[in-house]
Amino acid sequence: MGRFFAMDKNKKLESLRKKMEAHFSARKIVFGEGPADAKVMLVGQNPGEEEEKTGRPFVGRSGKFLNKILEKNKILRADVFVSNVVRFKTPENRKPTKEEIAECMPFLEEQIRIIEPKLVVLMGQVAWMATRIVGPAYFETYHPSAAMQYTKARARFEGDFGKISEIVEKL
Ligand code: URA
Repeated sequence: MGRFFAMDKNKKLESLRKKMEAHFSARKIVFGEGPADAKVMLVGQNPGEEEEKTGRPFVGRSGKFLNKILEKNKILRADVFVSNVVRFKTPENRKPTKEEIAECMPFLEEQIRIIEPKLVVLMGQVAWMATRIVGPAYFETYHPSAAMQYTKARARFEGDFGKISEIVEKL
């Protein structure tokens, strides 16, 4: 990816961040992080307490588990853009409502349009609802917290990241 192109994407991401902060002015948002020209995006549900505190996605318990799986499969977290469908913490970490998901979805769409990843990994039921914009390939897997909780989901999640790593190698 050319340097100037990536710079342009950084600017676009910054203006999207400002737009989101203005839209959700009463809330602390977690924008997502990673290279503006990442080939791979990971999308989760919504931030929890740790994420809200730090302003960074997947830094709590499920984030640590996700990091372990990424590492095991030789995927550098620094190379991927990590994001969420819903950008704010919900009370008691309840599942976001349909309305919250619908309100946040255009921002995810725009983020994907700017980054233009080749692969978008949708982690968990809320992420599976993401609009499939034309361009990237989509891969559905479980949410890391489900994988941490249930043996079968964990096996599937680990297997999926094995497959994702093979796909990433060829990108
Ligand atoms: N769970 C999510 O879905 N996203 C985060 O950023 C953290 C936990």
